Amino acid sequence: MFGKKKQTTSIDKDQLELIENAQKRIRQKKRLYVHFVVFLIGAVFLIIANTILGIGEDFTIAGVNWFVYAILAWLFLFAYHFINVFITHKFMGKDWEKHQLERLVSKQQQRIDEIKKTLIKEETEMAKSQLFQDQDSAANLDEKKKTNLTIIVAAGEDNAIGKDNDLIWHLSDDLKRFKRLTNGHHIIMGRKTFESFPKPLPNRTHVVITRKTNYEAPEGVIVVNSLEEAIDASSSDNNPFVIGGGEIYKQALPLVDKLEITRVHASFEDADTFFPTIDAQIWKEVSRTTRDADDKHKYAFSFITYERR
Ligand SMILES: NC(=O)c1ccc[n+]([C@@H]2O[C@H](COP(=O)([O-])OP(=O)(O)OC[C@H]3O[C@@H](n4cnc5c(N)ncnc54)[C@H](OP(=O)(O)O)[C@@H]3O)[C@@H](O)[C@H]2O)c1
Repeated sequence: MFGKKKQTTSIDKDQLELIENAQKRIRQKKRLYVHFVVFLIGAVFLIIANTILGIGEDFTIAGVNWFVYAILAWLFLFAYHFINVFITHKFMGKDWEKHQLERLVSKQQQRIDEIKKTLIKEETEMAKSQLFQDQDSAANLDEKKKTNLTIIVAAGEDNAIGKDNDLIWHLSDDLKRFKRLTNGHHIIMGRKTFESFPKPLPNRTHVVITRKTNYEAPEGVIVVNSLEEAIDASSSDNNPFVIGGGEIYKQALPLVDKLEITRVHASFEDADTFFPTIDAQIWKEVSRTTRDADDKHKYAFSFITYERR
């Protein structure tokens, strides 16, 4: 069951090749040696044949016996054999070829490695630049998304903002705050709100939204046909305001970044225009100032600033 494993002699491929090469070399040298001996004997034989046996005695070339030429020719052959064994085979034989091939392969491998490295480097740089581009466009998108638009509104506890195309209350400090915040800015409004003003407000650029294509407005008032056009028309302003009324607030709420609310602490059942509900999941209160009712202010109210979460 647990019998001895049979021992086998194993010679690896390289060793076998070395042995074969050594044997081949021995055979080559042996043949050269035989050639040398045969050449010596042959030379002696040619000398004897010509000089002693008198074979071709009369045949001379330029006064020199033929056997000299024969020996020289043979010597040349022998020299060729010698060179072949000791020089050509050594330097240009199979080993030499193999060595050259290996060198070529390793050079090619080096080149492949270098190309690979360059490719990896280029890929990394491309990926990096792609990343930067993505980050850039993401930043641009963010920038685009960030309109810096602010809604400014005064709304009752029940979100009431108007009745019969007019405000329901008169709160002088609220109007002052409105003037202060919007001063020098673009104010975007619906056609109805614009028409509720006796005249355009000073030191503000009015952008009036209407579906009418031939709406006539006083000089300096910008008339547009959609909220998007109104935002575009205000792009030179770093903080344009949406000032109402109900229809425009509803459309603008998802696009603005900030809400300046004057919360009037009362409810107005007979109102006909309302501000949309402020979703606490989307908006966070960042500041609040409360004022009590007084001679100039029939209702108590709070200035509340909300920012998008
Ligand atoms: N409490 C506050 O802070 C406050 C502020 C502002 C206004 N308000 C009150 O709000 C009331 C007015 O609001 P409202 O809702 O009746 O009217 P509004 O929003 O001021 O204007 C509505 C008009 O805007 C145009 N419009 C709306 N959406 C449009 C769109 N997508 N494309 C093109 N044009 C569009 C239409 O004009 P055309 O009909 O000409 O096509 C539409 O009739 C008034 O009572 C006002 O006093 C209150």
